[in-house]
Amino acid sequence: MRYFDSIVIGAGAAGLMCAATAGQRGRQVAVLDHANKVGKKILMSGGGRCNFTNYNVEPRHYLSENAHFCISALRRYTQQDFLELVNKYQLEYHEKTLGQLFCNNRAKDILNILLAECEQAGVTIETRCQIHTIEKTEGGFELTTGLGPMACESLVIATGGPSIPTLGATGFGYDVAQQFGLRVTERQASLVPFTLKNDALSLAQALAGVALPVSISCRGQTFKEAMLFTHKGLSGPAVLQITNYWYFGDEVEIDLLPDQDLATLITQWQREGAKSELKTLLSRILPKRLVSHWLDFPELAASIASKAIAQLSKSDIELLVSYFHHWRITPSGTEGYKTAEVTRGGVSTDELSSKTFEAKLVPGLYFIGEVIDVTGWLGGYNFQWAWSSGYCAGQYV
Ligand code: FDA
Repeated sequence: MRYFDSIVIGAGAAGLMCAATAGQRGRQVAVLDHANKVGKKILMSGGGRCNFTNYNVEPRHYLSENAHFCISALRRYTQQDFLELVNKYQLEYHEKTLGQLFCNNRAKDILNILLAECEQAGVTIETRCQIHTIEKTEGGFELTTGLGPMACESLVIATGGPSIPTLGATGFGYDVAQQFGLRVTERQASLVPFTLKNDALSLAQALAGVALPVSISCRGQTFKEAMLFTHKGLSGPAVLQITNYWYFGDEVEIDLLPDQDLATLITQWQREGAKSELKTLLSRILPKRLVSHWLDFPELAASIASKAIAQLSKSDIELLVSYFHHWRITPSGTEGYKTAEVTRGGVSTDELSSKTFEAKLVPGLYFIGEVIDVTGWLGGYNFQWAWSSGYCAGQYV
């Protein structure tokens, strides 16, 4: 039987951060992962450049049944703290947009920082290690694993969520929670493209590849970012962001001209005596392909598309406004865990201490990172949650 003070299951963002922190306190720590390599999601992230945090991290960028749960950890280990760590290793990074910070070179630089911190802290890392069973003992936990039996005083579950199973993602953490009688909230693939059906799908397919800035709303939340039409439906940052708020059956509303007021524009064109067709004028402010297909909507094609600008009535303008500023669709679903960046929902925050991340009912058992019911927006917020929760738990495990 190999004995460690702490065993962390999951060598991803949160697990490595926690292990390094605990190791630096003098704890003997092992990190076990069933994958052949550590930190696969870090390596894949941000298009290979890892959007590792954001200048503007605030609790409102996170969703959870308990919106207050994340506050304490985000305050105790902030984006500035993580920047201090990356600066220590002279990592070169840049702000892309909206405070999002990316590596200049490659995502591996972030993983290397975590591995260097673990090495300095004497952390043992085991890959290709299947965890077969976990049992609570008087002094902690006993594990049977593919690498033999192990025991520890504190056990940290940092196995993330099941998005992108080909990267080794599983729902293991939820099973452990349930084994110990902890509640797991409803889960859904999130930060993921929408799929469409029927006419909406045909439209998306005809426009596949067209991207434009939009504002997209669902359940009172709005994001203004780029949207992309795809062969399956809709993607792009605006769409991924809104999926954090979307539930099956919900309608979403899309404003294709978030920075313009179409009614005012049309009246202005009328006042100026514009001679061009509506299609030509609209193509000045929207992708041409999109305008053609939009004016083909039967209601618009029948009554408006062929009219001269001067002939457009107030009700015609209202109809155009409803199609361009308030396009409403009900996605048939999402592309699911195959492509989702995160899982919304997870181990209920009611079961955990927001200070230590220890399960209230099971002393010595900790959950950190994405496995918990705390889900961040797109933009570096999910990694910041992994760093903050990993660091804070690392102080206690
Ligand atoms: P993470 O998933 O990182 O680690 C879990 C580890 O547990 C893995 O190493 C896995 O192999 C291991 N594991 C799972 N099941 C196990 C089992 N049964 N036994 C043993 N080990 C097991 N976020 C962000 O902020 N900025 C970004 O740029 C991106 N980009 C991005 C791109 C893509 C393609 C994806 C899929 C995700 C992102 N994300 C992101 C989200 C981010 O990657 C995610 O939120 C964090 O990696 C979560 O960190 P965790 O440590 O909680 O889990």
